[in-house]
Amino acid sequence: MPPDRPTITSRLTADPASIDAAGALLRQGGLVAFPTETVYGLGADATNGRAVAGIYAAKGRPSFNPLITHVPDLAAADRFARFDQVSRRLAEAFWPGPLTLVLPRVPGAPISDLATAGLDTVALRVPRHPVALALLRAAGVPVVAPSANRSGHVSPTTADHVLADLAGRIDAVVDGGPTEIGVESTIVLVAGDRIRLLRPGGVDRAALARVSGLPVDDAADPQVAPIAPGMLASHYAPTAGVRLNATSVAPGEALLGFGPAILPGSDGAVAVQNLSPTGDLAEAAANLFGMLRSLDASGASAIAVAPVPETGLGEAIVDRLRRAAAPR
Ligand code: TXA
Ligand code: MG
Repeated sequence: MPPDRPTITSRLTADPASIDAAGALLRQGGLVAFPTETVYGLGADATNGRAVAGIYAAKGRPSFNPLITHVPDLAAADRFARFDQVSRRLAEAFWPGPLTLVLPRVPGAPISDLATAGLDTVALRVPRHPVALALLRAAGVPVVAPSANRSGHVSPTTADHVLADLAGRIDAVVDGGPTEIGVESTIVLVAGDRIRLLRPGGVDRAALARVSGLPVDDAADPQVAPIAPGMLASHYAPTAGVRLNATSVAPGEALLGFGPAILPGSDGAVAVQNLSPTGDLAEAAANLFGMLRSLDASGASAIAVAPVPETGLGEAIVDRLRRAAAPR
């Protein structure tokens, strides 16, 4: 799809015939959004430079930002990257699922340089959402898929979110209902006998350490060394300001709560949502991006966010909230 040509975006149901049609669209160089267990991705054939360029154009994404390549299984991944022992163990434990591995690219592997932004590494992931897996098999090509939102916006967890950002700019979205996890995959790089956590996500730090038996380090300050350039500070940004660790709600603010506590000033909030009234972090992750979108649409000047603990999945949730709150 030439990026500057307006397109009518079809909403496809997730039945086998539609998934086959979506796979054919991808093979022909189209842009197709689809559900994964984390967030909706905007897919294109990773081997087709023109299709990949269409993603950057549709999202308005800076072209230095490399993309994750999605494949249906570890055997397919082996064609594109060299696995060290630890990375293979992680893949065997967490694939299909919300883990992305950054690995040395197999020389000559047919992945567009645009997809890897010219790096000699490739980010690979096998999603576990049945619609994503069926689509990857139907497409028969590796599929790059960043989150299906305009660059810098909140990631989409429903087909409606995708259409709100990208209608008329992509060929189709396969509607598989709301996503299960709600925050993106964990991105890691195995460096010798340590694991570098490039982006916290759906697989938590403790699980990585348990399976690998290795220490899990934070990535270097992403502002200094943007090794995963999507980690730039101001990302996932709603239009309203975002105020973290709020213990009360100021006039004009909306409230994003967590847990059973009722904050002073909630009565006067422009709008109120609660990530998880019982304080369940999995529920909170699944609700995060949708609630940020809906509070943003309330017209509040700012979104006050109650404290969220940084344990388990909470690390990924707080990471996304900090980016949403970062100065722009
Ligand atoms: O859950 C997810 O991972 C979703 C779904 C759709 O699969 N995808 C996603 O993709 O979040 P995206 O493009 O929004 O995030 C890609 C991240 C960025 O932070 C990018 O910088 C990093 O992966 N990345 C990609 N290739 C890399 C590489 N070779 N080295 C380091 N980081 C890389
Ligand atoms: Mg994204």
